[in-house]
Amino acid sequence: MAKVLNSVVESIGRTPLVRLERLTAQAGVKGEILAKLEYLNPGFSKKDRAALGIIEEAEKSGAIKPGQTVVELTSGNMGTGLAIVCAVRGYPFVAVMSKGNSEERARMMAALGAEVILVDQLPGSVPGQVSGGDLALVEQATKAVTAERGAFRGDQFHRDGNWLAHYHGTGPEIWDASHGAVDAFVDFIGSGGTYAGVARALKERNPLIKCFIVEPEGAAAAAGETVTQPEHPIQGGGFSSGANVAAALRLLRSDQSGKTIAVVICDSGLKYLSTDLWS
Ligand SMILES: Cc1ncc(COP(=O)(O)O)c(C=O)c1O
Repeated sequence: MAKVLNSVVESIGRTPLVRLERLTAQAGVKGEILAKLEYLNPGFSKKDRAALGIIEEAEKSGAIKPGQTVVELTSGNMGTGLAIVCAVRGYPFVAVMSKGNSEERARMMAALGAEVILVDQLPGSVPGQVSGGDLALVEQATKAVTAERGAFRGDQFHRDGNWLAHYHGTGPEIWDASHGAVDAFVDFIGSGGTYAGVARALKERNPLIKCFIVEPEGAAAAAGETVTQPEHPIQGGGFSSGANVAAALRLLRSDQSGKTIAVVICDSGLKYLSTDLWS
């Protein structure tokens, strides 16, 4: 039932699950794609959940002190989520990001009150494509700022609050909205928090549900393949919603024909207007 919330943070989660009926009809495939519209979170991405999960876990364990600065290496969405959660909970927030990521993301974090530190790309790197070398520079800068400010690092790649947010939220929400009628889940991984949390929650409810990781061709690290194209255009996880839907369509054309596949629409395409996503 609708009710008045005490802060915007309470509006994170409980996003709609939508059947992409026209898309599957147009593609002429049998089966269904159920899209979890995570861009309807207050920071316009699923990373709001991870941000809240990490801060709440740190508050519970005492890893973060009242008013302590929070620092995170982020390509934008995690930073946007942390900017919102930190503003509400009273923690100054510093986002460290590569100049290779889309401009909208940096502007949005700043507009939400974050201090944004932009790190130059390596000479010869392509704007819009953040390479491993570019990321190493951002990591170096993040470590330095965290130490300088005696800050708490969000550290989405290591903190349990990330995947637990999807284990307690996204996964059960997909299960409940579909009344358990999900045969498969596909997800493009960054930190792997969404995949880990949702896959675990779904498999606990029905071990037969198949869970697939989506990776760019030539950069399938989780599959154990040699990375031949580290400079793929899926920046820090961006463009990932399209990749998830494309992967679901491919599965419906092959071994998952006739099945119901859940995907995450991780953020909004409107965050990428300055990139080549639409060209
Ligand atoms: C747009 C987008 N898609 C996908 C991902 C990957 O999600 P996860 O870190 O939960 O694996 C991210 C993470 O930053 C993201 O911002």
